[in-house]
Order: sequence, then structure tokens, then C-alpha cells
Amino acid sequence: MAGATVFPMTRNDNNPGGGRNAVTVRGLVKHYGETKALDGVDLDVREGTVMGVLGPNGAGKTTLVRILSTLLAPDSGHATVAGYDVVRQPRQLRRVIGLTGQYASVDEKLPGWENLYMIGRLLDLSRKDARARADELLERFSLTDAARRPASTYSGGMRRRLDLAASMIGRPTVLFLDEPTTGLDPRTRNEVWDEVQAMVGDGVTVLLTTQYMEEAEQLASELTVVDRGKVIAGGGIEELKAKVGGRTLRVRPADPRELSPLAGMLDELGITGLASTTVDAETGSLLVPILSDEQLTAVVGAVTARGITIASITTELPSLDEVFLSLTGHRASAPQDTRPAESREEVAV
Ligand SMILES: Nc1ncnc2c1ncn2[C@@H]1O[C@H](COP(=O)(O)OP(=O)(O)O)[C@@H](O)[C@H]1O
Ligand SMILES: [Mg+2]
Repeated sequence: MAGATVFPMTRNDNNPGGGRNAVTVRGLVKHYGETKALDGVDLDVREGTVMGVLGPNGAGKTTLVRILSTLLAPDSGHATVAGYDVVRQPRQLRRVIGLTGQYASVDEKLPGWENLYMIGRLLDLSRKDARARADELLERFSLTDAARRPASTYSGGMRRRLDLAASMIGRPTVLFLDEPTTGLDPRTRNEVWDEVQAMVGDGVTVLLTTQYMEEAEQLASELTVVDRGKVIAGGGIEELKAKVGGRTLRVRPADPRELSPLAGMLDELGITGLASTTVDAETGSLLVPILSDEQLTAVVGAVTARGITIASITTELPSLDEVFLSLTGHRASAPQDTRPAESREEVAV
């Protein structure tokens, strides 16, 4: 990073193969009393990409986001966002970032529209511009119908969308999303993913924290895995998935009697080159570990060729626990909710 002189960054800055860093973190350390929340974190996020920071509760994700958004000072190490130093240039930095926290930051008593208008005014927009921006973002996040209702009447998903809208008011070039879908039901979570993807399409750089491998896969191109304040793995999503054993293909034949012959056939084919297939009797399905799209195609091809009627074929990602187990040899350190996101229910608010 050459320093502050290279900025302001331009949108849609097409920078194939490498590109500049929107976020650079070096040796970041933060204690809370005895607790070492960050223990020497290094991180690079290239402009226009989505970096997923994956880790269990207590890993230090929020602490990292708070430091990068200047809400918290590090003990040592340093970090720049959009070329601005988090400690020495907080004002400039705040002008180019957006932040959506794990907990809604909107004022519940105020209607959605008022929330956005107020933030626009705080960001020095004229009345006219703040009004226009509030209208535009409510429309964009499908909240126009609820614009005049207090945010306290919104569902969890609507609030999360209002939060995202609020973080976009200042047209940030770098967006921090701290567990944007934790506690949301699957449908709402998908909506939030769509919104985030649209923002990325606009050229915004995103640093997203999550406890879900599935979310990281949906949104991020690169991943940093953190545990106990330390980076324990990093790289491209595919690379990391390969490291932790790829994914599992779940094949459910319409007739459960086909299970064993199917398993035998796949093992004989030796397509996977991995651990052998297992039968999940409870759900009447066959679990096939796969490492690549080619293997996926080969397995599906072999199953289809046999002429068996298949009730469903789905792929599953390893859970965070499994990821941690294969990367570190131990389970994620803090107690956490390890149920897949599908089985989570929306938190009542
Ligand atoms: N304000 C605070 N005071 C004391 N300890 C804290 C505070 N905030 C976080 N911690 C501790 O720091 C560690 C990292 O927390 P956090 O950054 O919130 O992790 P995550 O967001 O990954 O769940 C945890 O052990 C947490 O208990
Ligand atoms: Mg957190």
C-alpha cells in the first residue's frame, strides 16, 4: 500500500490480477483486561472483493471490525482502510466506510425513513439530498411500504435490510458486515445475501464476518479463519474447502432398497479417491465425499446412468465445527450454536 496518496478510490476500479488493498492489517493486538481478543492478526482485502472472516463466538471478529471502523483503538500493530490509518486518520476513514453490526444499530422509535434521513444529515447531506437518498435506499432494499412505520414494528429481516441501507447512505467504498445473517431464518438470510451481492456488483469492497461456512461460500471469494484472536488459515474458498475435505454429496434414491447397491457401485468406480461412501439409514441417503466439481459431475453421471430413480441430490458443506476440526485438530473453542443455518429460527424481537 503506497499510502493515502492513492485515494480516493474509484468505483468499479477494474484491477484484474492482484489489485490494491482496500484493507491491510498487520500484527493487530487487542486485550480486554486479561482476555487477548486479537493476538497478532494479519489480513489483506483486495479492492472490490469480499473477504469472509470465519470464526466461532469469541474468536475476535467483532473486535477486529470495531478496530477497522475506528470504534476501538488497537493495543499494537496497525491497519489501514482505503489507505487511511485507523488510528491516525479516523475522520477520513469514517467517510469511506459503512458498518452493519451484529446487533441492529437503527433507532427503533423512529420510522425507517427517518432513520435513513437522520443518518444522511449526520453525514452532511443537504436536506434535499438526504431525503432523496433515504427514498432511494428504502426502494432498493424493498422497504418503501414500511417507510413510515417505526422500526420497532419491523421483522428481523426488515431491520437487517434497514441496517444495510443505513450503512450505504454515505456511498462507502468499504463495507464491514459483522455477522449480517446470524439469527435470521433461511428466506431472510437469502434476501440479505442477494442485497450484499448487489452491493458487491456496485464495486464495494466487503469484509464480512460469519460463523457459517455456507455464508462464506455464498458471498466471499477469500476466507480468513480466526480462532482465539489468531488467524489459523486463509486463502481462496475452494482452496480452503479442499483442505477441509470439500463437500458431501447426499443422494437419496426413491427406493431405499437401492442404497446398498448404489454405494457398492460408487465405491467400485473409485471416483472420489477419498473416504468411501457411507449410508445414512435414517434419511435413506448415501453420503459421498467429493473434492471437485469434476467428481461431482462424475458421481451424478454414474448414478443417473444406472437408471435408478433419485428422489433428491444435494450437496452439503462441512460445518464450522468440521472445518475447525480439520484445520486445528480441535473443536471451535467457544460454546456455540452449531446447528446449520437452515434449522435456525428467526430471533424474536
Ligand atoms: N468489551 C469487552 N470487554 C471484555 N471482554 C470482551 C469485550 N468484548 C469482547 N470481549 C472478549 O474478547 C474476545 C473476542 O470477542 P469478540 O471480538 O466479540 O469475538 P466474536 O465477535 O468473534 O464473537 C472474547 O473472549 C470476548 O469475550
Ligand atoms: Mg461478534
